[in-house]
Amino acid sequence: MSAAGFRREGIGSHFPLDPGAFIGPPRGEFHWPASHGVGLETGRAAIGWLLDALGLGHGDRALLPAYVCDAAVAPFRRRGVAVDFYRVGATLEPDGDDAGARITPATRLLMVVHYFGFPLGREVLSRMPQNPDVVRLEDWVQSPLSAGALAPEGFGEYRVIAWHKVVSVPDSGLLIRRPDVSAPPMLPPLSFPRAAFFGRRLLATSLKAVAVTLFDGAPRGFYRPLFEAAERAADAGVPGRMSCLSRRILERLPVGAIVMRRRENFLRLAKAVSDLPGVTLLRPDLPAGVCPLGLPVRVRHRDGVLARLIRARIYAPVHWVLPAEVDRAVFPAEASLSDEEITLPVDQRYGADEMDFVARTLGEAVKREGGGGAP
Ligand SMILES: Cc1ncc(COP(=O)(O)O)c(C=O)c1O
Repeated sequence: MSAAGFRREGIGSHFPLDPGAFIGPPRGEFHWPASHGVGLETGRAAIGWLLDALGLGHGDRALLPAYVCDAAVAPFRRRGVAVDFYRVGATLEPDGDDAGARITPATRLLMVVHYFGFPLGREVLSRMPQNPDVVRLEDWVQSPLSAGALAPEGFGEYRVIAWHKVVSVPDSGLLIRRPDVSAPPMLPPLSFPRAAFFGRRLLATSLKAVAVTLFDGAPRGFYRPLFEAAERAADAGVPGRMSCLSRRILERLPVGAIVMRRRENFLRLAKAVSDLPGVTLLRPDLPAGVCPLGLPVRVRHRDGVLARLIRARIYAPVHWVLPAEVDRAVFPAEASLSDEEITLPVDQRYGADEMDFVARTLGEAVKREGGGGAP
């Protein structure tokens, strides 16, 4: 993409559909888990389907990390499952002792999150409670292309994955059961891909592809309301099945090249922003096997900085505004991270020019917002 091109289309935000992505034979770089996997439309649909399969509802409790997004809590809320939280602190490392202390006789499920593409280490997971009455769910929604995401063994009896945050697919969600775990008591029926979700996302990603090709990305009003309407549909209604189209795209993805480009972009951007006054990297390291979601940073006056990035057409998401159920007074480290976090885009659509532009713009935005001290 040319320098002029990325300024008009913007950097970040939703992927446009790539019409060539579902043509031709599978590349063999992606293997759908043949058994023990159920494809659903989103990560939250996969969590919801698991809760239904386990028969969880009113009177049951689930234990989640205190740093989590509203979309991950929504399926519990919707089914009347009460949520408790355990500490992960500013480093996002789960505190096993704190989690153990918060398990109650009504706790039925414990969730861990692999944040920003960085899988949690075995040692960290081994400190988490191992209660045979509590089902363990690993959330890999932010880390679907990182090493181990589809591994048959692991800490949790179940894991949830989704790919639409890192590649261009209209819908994607997967619930996997560890092969040594017996099937849940119920297998809730799944509707066909829903027009309200899949249909809108397919249309939105197609319109964006047209807008990018013909008009260099403008105008956003052409497709953005459809993405937003699809999000609302994801929160409501019976979860639908994942489409064959998305699975076809996944099987044709150049996974190795995508991971490599994301890692190169991460390293370049991390180097360029690491010395900026007032910017702190959440993860200065990039271990082997990590496919980063983005480059998460902390800045003071975050909302002002974000507004300046948007004016420069850099659409950097915030992960996350915490759900209302998380008590900020009980989890101050998580609350302050949530107030300061921005995830800078490093995805495979971009290269060195865009990363340098993001770094320059961020430096300027932080300076102008007067956030030059360490956050
Ligand atoms: C960690 C995590 N879990 C679950 C979800 C829900 O995924 P989806 O948006 O596919 O429903 C998200 C969404 O951002 C997430 O980041």
